Amino acid sequence: MSKPNPLQINFCGVRFENPFCLSSSPVGNHAEMCARAYDAGWGGVVYKTLGLEKSFRVVMPSPRLNAYNYGDKRVIGLQNTEQITDRPIRDNLRDLAWLKKSYPNKVLISSIMGYDDEDWAELAKMSEDAGADLVELNFSCPQMAHKHAGHRVGQDFHAVEMFTRVVKNATRLPVIAKMTPNITDMVPVALAAKDGGADAISAINTIKAITNIDLDSFTPMPDIHGNSAATGFSGPAVKPIAMRFVSDLYNSKQLNLPVSAIGGIETWIDALHFLLLGATNIQVTTAIMRYGYRIVEDMIEGLTDFMNDRNIGSLDELIGQAARMIVDPSEFDTRHQVVAVVDPEKCIGCGQCFISCRDGANQAMKFNAAKRKVEVDETRCVGCLLCKHVCPVWDCISHKEVDTLTTRHAAIF
Ligand SMILES: Cc1cc2nc3c(=O)[nH]c(=O)nc-3n(C[C@H](O)[C@H](O)[C@H](O)COP(=O)(O)O)c2cc1C
Repeated sequence: MSKPNPLQINFCGVRFENPFCLSSSPVGNHAEMCARAYDAGWGGVVYKTLGLEKSFRVVMPSPRLNAYNYGDKRVIGLQNTEQITDRPIRDNLRDLAWLKKSYPNKVLISSIMGYDDEDWAELAKMSEDAGADLVELNFSCPQMAHKHAGHRVGQDFHAVEMFTRVVKNATRLPVIAKMTPNITDMVPVALAAKDGGADAISAINTIKAITNIDLDSFTPMPDIHGNSAATGFSGPAVKPIAMRFVSDLYNSKQLNLPVSAIGGIETWIDALHFLLLGATNIQVTTAIMRYGYRIVEDMIEGLTDFMNDRNIGSLDELIGQAARMIVDPSEFDTRHQVVAVVDPEKCIGCGQCFISCRDGANQAMKFNAAKRKVEVDETRCVGCLLCKHVCPVWDCISHKEVDTLTTRHAAIF
C-alpha cells in the first residue's frame, strides 16, 4: 500500500495535493503559464487578478520593475508598479475554463478586483462559471491607478466587509480575502472580511516602498518618464514582515480563519517557517520570477524529507507550532539572563565581534593581541549576542545562562 501524501492539505474544504501555489501576479498571467506551473508540481494557482475593462481600463506603466540589490546580493527585493491584468476578461475566463478542464485535480483560484458592488458580484459569478475552486478578493494592490481600488479599499473596514458580503452573496465558492500590509494592524481588517463572510485570509500583498535613486538624474526608480512612486515591494526582504502578519492572524482567537501565507517564500524552509507560524497554504511570486516554476520540486522534496525524518505524517502536525510561542514582549521571562561564550578553538581572531561590541554594544569583548583571540568580560556582557550575529565562523559564539543581572548592571551604570 502506498503511503498517504504527507503534503496534502484541506483549505476551505478544497483538497490541495501540496500547499504550494502561485500567487496572483505575472507568474500566472494566462493558461499556458499556469499549465506549465501545474506540470512542474504546484498544487494550485492564484490566477492574475481579473477586473472588468468596462469599468476601468488598465494601462500598465513602463518600466514596471526595480530590483533591490544589496552588496553583491541581487534581487533581495523587487519593486513593481504593476496593476491587475490588462488582458480582456473574455480571454482570461476562457483560460480559467480551459485550465480547470485540463487539470481537474489541481486547484484553481480566481483573484478578482471590482470597483463597485456590481463588478465584485459579476466577477465572482464569472469565476464560478469558469470553474474556479475558490475566489481571492484583491483588497491590496498598492498601485492601482483607480482611486477606489486596491489597498485603499483594504484599509477601509467597511468597504472590506461590504465587498466581501457582496461576493459571498454572488457565489457558492469559498472566499479568501487578500490583505494589505500597508496598515499597522491587519487583524481588524481581517475581522471585517470575516464579518462579511470570508472563509480565509491571505497575506501579504506587496509593501509600499522606494528601492533606489538614480544619482545622475536624482529620479527614484523605476524611472517612469521622469517620475516614480512608492509601490509594491516583494521578495526575500519582506519575509520577516510577512511572518509577523501571518502569526498575528493565526494568533487572533477572534479571527479563527485559515491563512494562506505570501511574502518572500523561496525555499522549503521559508515555507516551513510560515506553516509553523500558522499558515495552511503557501503562495509564491518573486522567487518564481527569479528562478522559474522548477523551485517547487525542491520545496516538495525538502519538506517531505523533513517530515519523514521526524515521523511527521501530516502538515496539520506542524501548522501553528511556532505561533504559540509568540507573546507580547511584556510577557517575556526576564529572570533568565545570558552572556556570550567564545569557543577559543573556533575563534579566528578576526576582531569583528570586538569592534561590534565596542562600538555598537557594551564593550564586553576583550581582544587578546598576543593570542589573537577574543575573550568575554562577563561583568560587562548583557547577552545581546550581537557578537554571535556578526561572527563569520558558524557556531564559534554561543551563550550560557548567568545569575548576575544586578551585579552586571551595577558594573555598567
Ligand atoms: C510584478 C507583480 C505583480 C503582482 N500582481 C498582483 C496581482 O495582480 N494581484 C495580487 O493580488 N497580487 C499581485 N502581486 C502580489 C503577489 O501576489 C504577492 O502578494 C507579493 O508579491 C508577495 O509575495 P512574493 O514575495 O512571493 O512575491 C504582484 C506582485 C508582483 C511582484
